[in-house]
Amino acid sequence: MTVPRFAAAKREGRKLTMLTAYDFSFAKILDEAGVDSILVGDSLGMVMQGQPNTLPVTVDEIIYHTKCVCRAVQHALVIADLPFPVNHLGVHKTIEMSARILKETGCQAVKLEGGADQAAVIEGLVRAGIPVMGHVGLRPQNVLMMGGYRIQRDAEILLADARAAQDAGAFGLVLEGIPSSLAKEVTTTLLIPTIGIGAGSECDGQVLVLHDMLGLTSGNVPKFAKAFCNLRQSVAAAVQSYCSDVQRGVFPDHQHSYE
Ligand code: KIV
Repeated sequence: MTVPRFAAAKREGRKLTMLTAYDFSFAKILDEAGVDSILVGDSLGMVMQGQPNTLPVTVDEIIYHTKCVCRAVQHALVIADLPFPVNHLGVHKTIEMSARILKETGCQAVKLEGGADQAAVIEGLVRAGIPVMGHVGLRPQNVLMMGGYRIQRDAEILLADARAAQDAGAFGLVLEGIPSSLAKEVTTTLLIPTIGIGAGSECDGQVLVLHDMLGLTSGNVPKFAKAFCNLRQSVAAAVQSYCSDVQRGVFPDHQHSYE
């Protein structure tokens, strides 16, 4: 998958699939299963590091996880998230950090949170040859300003942000935490593909956090985060079974031992 092919999917009427991944083993499974794109999201702060939100994630951590993912991927478009507050440090600094991510990891694009306020940054990155995916609606890096994660309902702001990201040269746009009707309006307005998360079914594609969709996340998960299996339960059962076999002396057996 390349950036132009990803962008062309909208014209071809083909829905895009995207999932997050942060390590070699899962990235290999996702890639072999045929997902179009893998996002090394700053959600890694929560699912990999146990942080309360995405704010503590650093560029070095994004680079480390993106390298692990890129080693596994043969087909999918790998996109690395710009962690807080990289894209607020000015166009030059953002180009410098994004170029470092691309050079050191081998990923094909970066994603940044922002629309109209980030137009100059998106434009600068694209001019430098760095493909950018925008992210509007609910922006998790704004969690402190929002006082939590709040569904965004202001159509005027959302449309202005989406148009600004497209006009600045973004090749795609994540729509997060907005009503389905608004996501539909943005999707039909834009020429670039929209990738929804908590934005209903009318987007050009969907993204979920891998640990949510595999049923690995404990505690509260957002309404939109459908678990497609219950890996948490399966892993717990496997670990209990292993412990029991070791304690009863039935593992390792003959089959799993050397003569
Ligand atoms: O960090 C992340 O994983 C994301 C997606 C969920 C869109 O930004």
